[in-house]
Amino acid sequence: MLSTIYLGSTLVLAEPSNMRCFHSVKFLNNHATIYDLPMTASSEYAVETFNLTKKFKVVETLPGEEERSKLARFLFGESFRGRVRVRERVVLDRVNLQVREGECLGLLGPNGAGKTTLLEILATALLPDDGTAKVMGYDVVRESGKVRRCITPVFPQFSVYDMWTARRNLEYAALLHDVPLGEVGRRVREALELVGLSERADDLVRKYSTGMRVRLILAMGLVVDNPVYLMDEPFTGIDPGTAKQLREFVRRELLEKRGRTVLLATNMLADAEELCDRVAIINEGRVVAVDTPANLKRKVQGVETVDLEVLTENAEALVDAAKGLEGVKACYLLRSASNPPGVASLRVLTPDSRSLLPSLIEAIHKANGKVRYVKVHEPTLEDVFIHYTGRGLCE
Ligand SMILES: Nc1ncnc2c1ncn2[C@@H]1O[C@H](COP(=O)(O)OP(=O)(O)O)[C@@H](O)[C@H]1O
Ligand SMILES: [Mg+2]
Repeated sequence: MLSTIYLGSTLVLAEPSNMRCFHSVKFLNNHATIYDLPMTASSEYAVETFNLTKKFKVVETLPGEEERSKLARFLFGESFRGRVRVRERVVLDRVNLQVREGECLGLLGPNGAGKTTLLEILATALLPDDGTAKVMGYDVVRESGKVRRCITPVFPQFSVYDMWTARRNLEYAALLHDVPLGEVGRRVREALELVGLSERADDLVRKYSTGMRVRLILAMGLVVDNPVYLMDEPFTGIDPGTAKQLREFVRRELLEKRGRTVLLATNMLADAEELCDRVAIINEGRVVAVDTPANLKRKVQGVETVDLEVLTENAEALVDAAKGLEGVKACYLLRSASNPPGVASLRVLTPDSRSLLPSLIEAIHKANGKVRYVKVHEPTLEDVFIHYTGRGLCE
């Protein structure tokens, strides 16, 4: 039941049981404008999770009797071994997060960390097993309908329809999300303009480049434009220049101009560094740290990163040799596509590079490596990640 309240010249429709879900209607020159942003009168946060937990059942196949295995492999495929065990895997482990309105929070973690699962729960596409999550004050399980009106999903993996034009994809997104019919055309035109796709709006998406697809998916968000944007690795697969432009666009248009809240899952450092107000570091389903990028880096101050390029036939032996030295906090290989064969990139973390370097270079020489380049640098978010998890983002 909606009741009406007048606040000055503004008529407010409110549900008495929950003052957060009112819409405001303003009368200007006899035209009513409905602001479909739910006003969060008493909700402090745009997104809030409390001990949010998700478990998936994982099916493992184990060796079984030979005859049964043959039949089972024939029926179920080569990897089937004849016996099955179902096990539960905790994918999100008591996640507590608070995202303020108008804030951009990055979820930084490697593949499999649980980022998509978390976003899908917030988007009401998955049910949590334990704990609670609220979007604009609404519970994602009990008030899923209201939550859906508050979120803008930008999930590139639920891709666009290739055999439709960009315009048709955008209109479809608008209709799916209940954008008022009279508004659809204007919003589609505006979104196309903003992401720079107006000229190609009537081309089939099949003919689009990866960068254009990324723009289109962002445009689908702009058409829906509910207050909480859930973005799942939105800039994956595009060149660094375009990614930078789009990050700037999100900051300027969504955060500064429209005041939207953005929750952005990523494993790219540049997203976290350039776009996010705060970053939650997530690893194996657990949030291990949340803070501004600057504060996170300050916490690992006293850790210097030494990058070495080494001529070697056995890179693993170098890692073992370095790990045995006093003053080495961590050591691992960087996967660098630009390295010619026989050259390894090694990263060493140490509290004091000056006292470590002589013994490090000696240890590398003893392990039959020849150092050809050394660079020492300040902590990055990747170092923060290693500090908390003991491994790199790409491992
Ligand atoms: N439907 C599913 N059934 C079983 N396991 C799943 C399912 N979806 C995701 N997982 C597992 O949950 C973990 C987290 O996945 P995901 O949330 O996609 O991670 P991320 O987005 O950080 O890469 C992974 O180990 C993945 O294999
Ligand atoms: Mg993912």
